[in-house]
Amino acid sequence: MALVGNFGFGNGDRTAETTGVGAIGGGNAFARRGSRPQDDPVSEQHARERTGSFAWSATRGSVQSNRPPSSPDQKRQQANYFSNGITPQNEKEGLEKFESPDTKAESDEDAQARADATITELAKTLTRQSTYTNVPDSPFGADADSPLDPNSKNFRPRTWVKSMIKLNETENRTPGRTAGIAFRDLNVHGYGAATDYQKDVGNIWFEVVGMVKKAFGLAKPRRIDILRNFEGIVHSGEMLVVLGPPGSGCSTFLKTITGETHGFVVDEGSYLNYQGIPPEKMHKYFRGEAIYTAEVDVHFPMMTVADTLSFAARARAPKNIPGGVSKQEWADHLRDVFMATFGISHTKNTKVGNDYVRGVSGGERKRVTIAEAALSGAPLQCWDNSTRGLDSANAIEFTKTVRLSTELLGAAACVAIYQAPQAAYDVFDKALVLYEGRQIFFGPTTEAKAYFVRMGFRCPDRATTADFLTSMTSPQERFVRDGFKDKVPRTPDEFAAVWKASPERAALTKELDSYDKTFPYEGEHYNRFVESRQAQQSKHQRIKSPYTLSYSQQVNLCLWRGFQRLKADPTLTFTQLFGNFAMALVLGSVFFNMPDTTGSFFTRGAVIFFAVS
Ligand SMILES: Nc1ncnc2c1ncn2[C@@H]1O[C@H](COP(=O)(O)OP(=O)(O)OP(=O)(O)O)[C@@H](O)[C@H]1O
Ligand SMILES: [Mg+2]
Repeated sequence: MALVGNFGFGNGDRTAETTGVGAIGGGNAFARRGSRPQDDPVSEQHARERTGSFAWSATRGSVQSNRPPSSPDQKRQQANYFSNGITPQNEKEGLEKFESPDTKAESDEDAQARADATITELAKTLTRQSTYTNVPDSPFGADADSPLDPNSKNFRPRTWVKSMIKLNETENRTPGRTAGIAFRDLNVHGYGAATDYQKDVGNIWFEVVGMVKKAFGLAKPRRIDILRNFEGIVHSGEMLVVLGPPGSGCSTFLKTITGETHGFVVDEGSYLNYQGIPPEKMHKYFRGEAIYTAEVDVHFPMMTVADTLSFAARARAPKNIPGGVSKQEWADHLRDVFMATFGISHTKNTKVGNDYVRGVSGGERKRVTIAEAALSGAPLQCWDNSTRGLDSANAIEFTKTVRLSTELLGAAACVAIYQAPQAAYDVFDKALVLYEGRQIFFGPTTEAKAYFVRMGFRCPDRATTADFLTSMTSPQERFVRDGFKDKVPRTPDEFAAVWKASPERAALTKELDSYDKTFPYEGEHYNRFVESRQAQQSKHQRIKSPYTLSYSQQVNLCLWRGFQRLKADPTLTFTQLFGNFAMALVLGSVFFNMPDTTGSFFTRGAVIFFAVS
């Protein structure tokens, strides 16, 4: 996923082997595998995190994750962002506490827990470092059929990732960057006509009145509130699942977060903070850093899967390619790795296709879209129903693969998903539930169900948590517990009001307040982000440009793609060429052999007219 894309920018992480990379370790992420816990380090890892173990810190250690440490636990976790797992100040603090717990004003139990955690962490760090030394220094130029060869059946993404991490850590030429998002008072609206009707002879005259009103600026379009008072935080390294029935505003929310606001308006008072990056800068200068992957797959249908992904890889190639390989080799290698990871290697030379052009299957096309987006290596990713057309096993693998990029590289991901299987839901950290444009819950996925049960609803035994949460928005599908019939909210506004008054919301508000202080606009994190971006961009590119390549490199790349398209489908171009050639002959014959006298004056004018027009 993006994890691999970002490795190109030197975003090293020593913790790969202890993390979810293993989810793709046995082959490609989308290959069906057994569900034994040991085969599935991502969910195992995630399960450990969710039960409060210290695995969280171990997995996010190497990127500069920017989750503000709000609780003692989180502070402990953040200590592990440093490669040896201990920050300078924490080194003193943590170890002192371990050595002389009785001198501290904390209970023996707490001290013991801290000591255990420190020992566990040190043990993990040592294990990681020893395992890490066993992987090859570079994933490039590996032997054929080795675990680093994406074209071989022996390819192991896990080993590849570890090797790439090692290479990037050794070279350390492009610092990594992370992003997250905090939003509050987020209101979005659109405009629609107040009434619309089928026009006929009888009512067409009303249209004239409408046109006159419009001409004089008297016609007021009807305002449609799409999102009302949304608030929440997605830290770097976290995954948010966006749940809601069709039409509730899921896509609008994701588009707003990524700045794709064409067609609707974000209210001026809305507050968005991308870990210190103001929204206008994020959407203008760092457009490629917050990506929205739309529900529909739009590709050039005649291009092959390999060419489509090559373009994506080359468009984001960093200035300093690691491993001493050329840009082309780097892009081809990444392309192959992504194809192997997503299980589409066999479609390499097949057309992508669309509804009219026969190409790869729908599920494969979806994976091409996912791979293309993932190749961008964007630190903030929004996926709009990207599991559409995938079966449930592949949907789960998709979420796990997104999980990898969040855990290893500190990316933040917001994913709208319908009919999410329980295993996919469990991969997420936070959930946002939408009901006709209102936010009716935002918080940890582990608490969402309890929140609605406490409110008075019953989760049917066989319903998944995601289905239960979505069922809250449908009077026919939600079940009220005995004794709560008159107490539960019914309308979207009532649900929103209960959310506003809830302790969960109060906690979120507090967290939002501290987020503002930790990540002030254009603060330290912003500077680090800009530095990292600049290190990735081509030498001749402005930092204000959202593009990685220089102008000439972009022209070159687009020409290459244009040529590939021409090669793939020359019919139209050649038909036009032939048509123009025939027309030239016809016109030429009309004006052939004109006399060299003033008698041909007007005819010559006509020739010039044809040539120009
Ligand atoms: N520009 C706009 N002007 C007016 N109404 C809009 C506009 N954009 C979206 N809407 C309305 O806002 C609501 C939410 O739209 P959105 O596309 O976000 O829904 P969604 O939750 O993604 O639905 P689906 O699951 O079907 O894709 C819909 O009722 C839609 O008609
Ligand atoms: Mg949608």
